[in-house]
Amino acid sequence: MAKKLFIKTYGCQMNVYDSARMAEALAPLGYDMVDEPAGADMVILNTCHIREKASEKVFSELGRLRDLRDERAPGAGPMLIGVAGCVAQAEGEEILRRAPQVDLVFGPQTYHRLPELVARAARGERALDTDFPAEDKFDALPARPRKSPATAFLTIQEGCDKFCTFCVVPYTRGAEFSRPVENVLDEARALAGGGAREITLLGQNVNAYHGRGAGGDAAAEEGLGGLIRRLACVEGVERIRYTTSHPRDVDEALIATHRDVAELMPFLHLPVQSGADRILAAMNRRHTADDYRRVVDRLRAARPDLALSSDFIVGYPGETEAEFEATLRLAEEIGYAQAYSFKYSPRPGTPAANSSEQVAEPVKAERLARLQDSLNRMQSAFNEASIGQEMPVLFERRGRRPGQFIGRSPFMQSVHVEGAGDLLGQTLPIRIAASHPNSLTGEPVAALAATVRSPGRAGLQA
Ligand code: SAH
Ligand code: SF4
Ligand code: F3S
Repeated sequence: MAKKLFIKTYGCQMNVYDSARMAEALAPLGYDMVDEPAGADMVILNTCHIREKASEKVFSELGRLRDLRDERAPGAGPMLIGVAGCVAQAEGEEILRRAPQVDLVFGPQTYHRLPELVARAARGERALDTDFPAEDKFDALPARPRKSPATAFLTIQEGCDKFCTFCVVPYTRGAEFSRPVENVLDEARALAGGGAREITLLGQNVNAYHGRGAGGDAAAEEGLGGLIRRLACVEGVERIRYTTSHPRDVDEALIATHRDVAELMPFLHLPVQSGADRILAAMNRRHTADDYRRVVDRLRAARPDLALSSDFIVGYPGETEAEFEATLRLAEEIGYAQAYSFKYSPRPGTPAANSSEQVAEPVKAERLARLQDSLNRMQSAFNEASIGQEMPVLFERRGRRPGQFIGRSPFMQSVHVEGAGDLLGQTLPIRIAASHPNSLTGEPVAALAATVRSPGRAGLQA
């Protein structure tokens, strides 16, 4: 009999990808995914450790799951509770100690061993596996399923060697590792064969990618630019994106790929964190604000319609008002289509957490509000400038209203269209009619009676 599996995903896109692969690893054991924890035979929390609030949520959710398990009908069998992801990696033992209801704990690098861990948990053994194993988890995971959504994630690089002083990722995800080019292309072919039209390449430092090259030459390595060129030739792949990139690792080959490869979408998430050189140095970002400006200039010279996004941290230890204003200024100068901003959150085990110059909470809150106000205004202006434009939109899901479909513009804007037939998985030219803070609405340009082909290259450069 099929068993029910519920996975709750926190954190970044890499966790979204990992959750999908966990479900695939558990499918041979008879687990089918469900949409809610009630009635599930196994619940996995795939957790994030990046900021304090993110990890607190895990313990409160575990409380709710214990209640659910206790309410389970007699005879319904046990409900297994698993904790995965970066909190599991960082605080595995602590979770087992504080939360007796948890049956299994495993990290981002060990979920290919899930069948084994589940077998142990089913025998009543509490299982903890937070190794950084030598084997390649991707080799051990089952092949991707036959059907894929229109937009799919593909992890090509894991871990991080940068050690920014505020960040837990190097500790939770381990050292940098790039998957070989052929493995990535095989997975892309499987995804595209299953219906994926857009592939987003993932890595904590995705543009540090340097995978073993194709053609059996173990010595030849390929960077991200070269990988994207190959990916663009995979049948069915219409759109390529990548995230998250580091300004230090934007090389000439990648910039040229933005210029030459039409499938690579004109939108880039390029986090800067701060606009003040002293703070950037303290953060160990290893670039200045001007270095960042120059990288953006070169990218925009290669791809003039490139829209940008960023992450910002306000209230890093020792940040002065003037330094915060430098961040505001940099943001305004660059002009972002969207961006994420956070109050600095001291994380255990990271160097900045020990600094004696912590910024007071109300100061952080006030700076965040000012920055977000500026970023929101930029985002609204960017969306408003889309009104009247015609752009190719790839439809990826149904909206809440009947007949409504939601897709993405080349610039990652969410576009809502209503009453135009079944649009799922299609890329159609859409004329943007209205803009809202977080989305656009539009109408198909051509009659849908005829099959409209993706405008591809021509459409994007119009
Ligand atoms: N690898 C990416 C970032 C991954 S974490 C990069 O180098 O850009 C995603 C974002 O979370 C970061 O860009 C940063 O803005 C934010 N972040 C990470 N650690 C944080 C902390 N301790 N406090 C507040 N924000 C943090
Ligand atoms: Fe964290 Fe810095 Fe690595 Fe990004 S580059 S994951 S912010 S340590
Ligand atoms: Fe969070 Fe881990 Fe991603 S800490 S942001 S889930 S790499």
